[in-house]
Amino acid sequence: MSADNAFEDINESKANMDYIYNESDPRAYFQELKKLAYTIPDAAKPIFQQLITHLQRRQERAVHVLDLGCSYGVNAALLKYDLSMHELYDHWSDRSLVQSAPEDVVAHDRHFIDNLDEQEDIVVTGLDQAESAVAFAKESGLLDEGLAVNLEISSLSNTATEILADADLVTSTGCVGYMTEKSFERLLPAVTQGRSPWIGNFVLRMFPFDAIEETLAKFGYVTERLDGQTFVQRNFASADEHEQVLDQLRDGGIDPTSGEVEGQLLAEFYLSRPKADAVAMPIERLLQA
Ligand SMILES: C[S@@+](CC[C@H](N)C(=O)[O-])C[C@H]1O[C@@H](n2cnc3c(N)ncnc32)[C@H](O)[C@@H]1O
Repeated sequence: MSADNAFEDINESKANMDYIYNESDPRAYFQELKKLAYTIPDAAKPIFQQLITHLQRRQERAVHVLDLGCSYGVNAALLKYDLSMHELYDHWSDRSLVQSAPEDVVAHDRHFIDNLDEQEDIVVTGLDQAESAVAFAKESGLLDEGLAVNLEISSLSNTATEILADADLVTSTGCVGYMTEKSFERLLPAVTQGRSPWIGNFVLRMFPFDAIEETLAKFGYVTERLDGQTFVQRNFASADEHEQVLDQLRDGGIDPTSGEVEGQLLAEFYLSRPKADAVAMPIERLLQA
């Protein structure tokens, strides 16, 4: 079975959230995910910050981040403006916004973001298949560049290929599973044109990373998993989802005892880097506290 078929089957066990991914503004996204205590961008933030610090030491210009499955610019908000998911949940469930038209929400958010201090001098490009979410993230100022494309089925345009040549770090949270090795196969020629970015993916434990790892290896990348650490993604949406995910994990040879059994979806962190970088400093040393 190919990885994308396997991922399709695994996705069956997860609650379907597609209806909140492509609205004109992020209210529904944050309202729904707040109910599930979706928190993986918060958990990922300190790891991404450490990677940015390492990369910044090697170059003069600001680090360029490409965030895959960027949605409404969530990781950009956390990394660039030092916001937390808690603050984003509060902001987008503000009662004064309940009756607002989407264009008023965008104007409100532009104002909100313009008044925040940039904590991290980074340039963020977001890529997501959800056109409206990417448009919002661009208009509100969270993203510097936005690419609305589904690399599972389409190739990159020439303009997108040019933009991606600058990437120093590729990030993703909550996205692998929707994106398979097919997307990475289409992405890698663009991001390895000149520089070879580090690629950090937070991946739910039920999605095997092997096929993506093999694809990245064809481009000279070595993938390491951060062993001994899991990261909470969110609570289960229902008892059914919980039961089905536990079955998926056991079928995949993963023991969910003292993990997902407790009621939360857990992710692991995979870092893929050009071989020389991985050999020079293994992940445990790179990310030691
Ligand atoms: C669970 S959300 C995660 C969003 C964000 N990274 C976060 O952690 O808040 C999954 C995102 O993946 C996007 N997505 C789904 N399939 C995709 C694909 N084939 N290519 C790019 N993005 C995709 C969705 O539109 C959605 O924005």
